Amino acid sequence: MLKLGVNIDHVATLRQARYRGLEQGIRSEPDPVEAALVCERAGCHGITAHLREDRRHIVDHDVIRLRREIKTRLNLEMANTPAMVEFALRVRPDIVCLVPERREEVTTEGGLAVAAQLGAIAATIKRLKEAGIEVSLFIGPDAEEIEAAARSGARFIELHTGAYAESYHQKAPRQRELERLIAASEQAHELGLRVNAGHGLNCDNLGLIHLVPHLVELNIGHSIVSMAVFHGLDRAVRDILSAMANYRSA
Ligand code: PXP
Repeated sequence: MLKLGVNIDHVATLRQARYRGLEQGIRSEPDPVEAALVCERAGCHGITAHLREDRRHIVDHDVIRLRREIKTRLNLEMANTPAMVEFALRVRPDIVCLVPERREEVTTEGGLAVAAQLGAIAATIKRLKEAGIEVSLFIGPDAEEIEAAARSGARFIELHTGAYAESYHQKAPRQRELERLIAASEQAHELGLRVNAGHGLNCDNLGLIHLVPHLVELNIGHSIVSMAVFHGLDRAVRDILSAMANYRSA
């Protein structure tokens, strides 16, 4: 069964739009932890949160509370920096997804350059694995990066579906991006990696993602929180789960 990790960053984005800088403990809404619990009750398989260096949405305290309160798996997205690695070792999420981070970007725009920094990434993976934390690498559907990911010691990759999502309304580019995802997933599977995917996925573009083999989990955030504005979070998660149902891994 294809699993769903709900990325709750944008619940925190809404909170920070009003309450940024207020002391923890002061009532501030909406609470991303409460949102995570609603998502779990609606049937998601994990909660994903990105603790960015600039703390623009999720803050440290959110991750600590998520760790305490959720019942499914906690996937912490983070940059590979010494401070973030120390934080992860303290909080102990079930899985860390290493992502590239640039302060000026609106969202995670590209995949991690694994081949160019294989030593540093492999060293972090080793430390996290020794602490019992699984590691995933967020990468584009690029053969060289997948090969490097296989050499890094990571158990998972997360394929960046952003280019596919952006090209979705133009037939030829969409087909090209879909074929890249299919080839990348096949290559990763052959190299022994487990394959997740995410970024920009929604109820419309999920259909064709069923053609990508070997997927274990999708991480979806923005479209779920957007649908929740109109229909509530519970229904948004259930609608995404229905759009993911009947996936056959190969
Ligand atoms: N996976 C990763 C690694 C991400 O950085 C993001 C965006 O924060 C997502 C999945 C979810 O993307 P979206 O919010 O577009 O669904």
